[in-house]
Amino acid sequence: MRTIIEPFRIKMTEALPITDRGDREALLAEAKYNVFLLDAQHVTIDLLTDSGTGAMSDRQWAAMMVADESYAGSASWRHFEQTIRNITGFKHIFPTHQGRAAERLLAATRLKPGNVVPNNSHFDTTRANIEFVGATAVDLLTPEARDLQSQDRFKGNLDLAGLEKVIRDEGPANIPFCMITVTNNAAGGQPVSMENIRRVKEILVRHDIPLIIDACRFAENAFFINRYEPGHSKSSLLEIAREMFALSDGATMSAKKDGLANIGGFFACNNDDWADDFRNLLILTEGFPTYGGLAGRDLEAVAVGLMEALEINYQRYRHATVEYIAEKLLARDVPIVRPPGGHAIFIDAAAFCPHLAASDYPGIGLVNALYLEGGIRAVELGSVMFGKPASDGGAETPAPHELVRLAFPRRVYTQSHFDYVVEVLDFVHRHRDAIKPFRIIRQPPFLRHFTAHFALAG
Ligand code: F0G
Repeated sequence: MRTIIEPFRIKMTEALPITDRGDREALLAEAKYNVFLLDAQHVTIDLLTDSGTGAMSDRQWAAMMVADESYAGSASWRHFEQTIRNITGFKHIFPTHQGRAAERLLAATRLKPGNVVPNNSHFDTTRANIEFVGATAVDLLTPEARDLQSQDRFKGNLDLAGLEKVIRDEGPANIPFCMITVTNNAAGGQPVSMENIRRVKEILVRHDIPLIIDACRFAENAFFINRYEPGHSKSSLLEIAREMFALSDGATMSAKKDGLANIGGFFACNNDDWADDFRNLLILTEGFPTYGGLAGRDLEAVAVGLMEALEINYQRYRHATVEYIAEKLLARDVPIVRPPGGHAIFIDAAAFCPHLAASDYPGIGLVNALYLEGGIRAVELGSVMFGKPASDGGAETPAPHELVRLAFPRRVYTQSHFDYVVEVLDFVHRHRDAIKPFRIIRQPPFLRHFTAHFALAG
């Protein structure tokens, strides 16, 4: 059969908040047109993020019930450690409360002011943690990734020539490690090929620079490799994941994505000195190394979830969902980034709203329209998130692209929910002339997208 079905049935339901347009109009005004400031109880379909928003399986809940909450050396810790060692092969494994805690401790223990860290694309918390200790985070995207319509299958790859240049310019001694983010969230959830990871590693080995994988969506990336990279179609996702990790020296992970858990993360590595430094700081701020800020039941949820994320039928369904929506949107001429990524669809808000300039924040206009018409919450990844405000109060430097991300929580919404999302997007697209320009009326000094207040311009 050609229809790919959800490989689960539903044992427990959660009521969806249903609101009407009049309510939503008032709620948007109250939230100062920033959907981060809406209460989730007023959102019907929440596509703000795929992080920590997934549904857990009966096997995860069952494991949580038998979790061991001992402070030191719990059975749940052993389950967590052995699962991650089985997947990654790393010697040292440290739980953290989420991905950014692993990033913070890695940056604090390995980086000095003036150091440089290359990556295909740093996620914003990774960049912020690197910059917080005075180092510089460099993004090395390929030219294909910058072209929103390029059909390249591995648009998440790290630019090899760019890496060679950074090493030449900075000197290897100033690069304590290089990172690769799989999949490349900031560049549209695009995958990285095994070939690219291998070639990055070859370059780094010549200069004695370790490679750290930001592994948040490692299982989704493994699926892309299995499906699209020659030579990998016969390998299981676990085998592909092992091969990816074997090419690296360590990994940071947010288990809120491919750990299929609502909280959790880890750092893993082989180097004993790195592990000693990490452990010392972990105890200071996160917790004893066998729980790292997590409850025993969280360790269990992650241990079971990581293996479920590597199940081929789960990944088939996950990717089929994204492709299903992408196909329907393309058939309705809704401009999206192609090919669609692993965890999200990115809409080109500049092409969607040709009547708006970057300074009108078309992404904010589109996000507001999606909530107003359908109670759907999406997120702007454009000039509000990435634009650079002028220090003298003059014109801002806009972001390279005005995107809106629809991120898909794992195992949460059904096909009819997505049919509804397509219908709302199609409606908003046909009435796109009604999308209004916005201006910022209040903003904090950094990460302004979370708390800024907007008003309709003019
Ligand atoms: N790295 C990547 C690639 C991420 O996408 C995220 C989180 C993190 C690190 C940080 O992990 O949230 O557990 O501290 N991304 C979420 C998102 C928040 O919506 O894309 P965390």
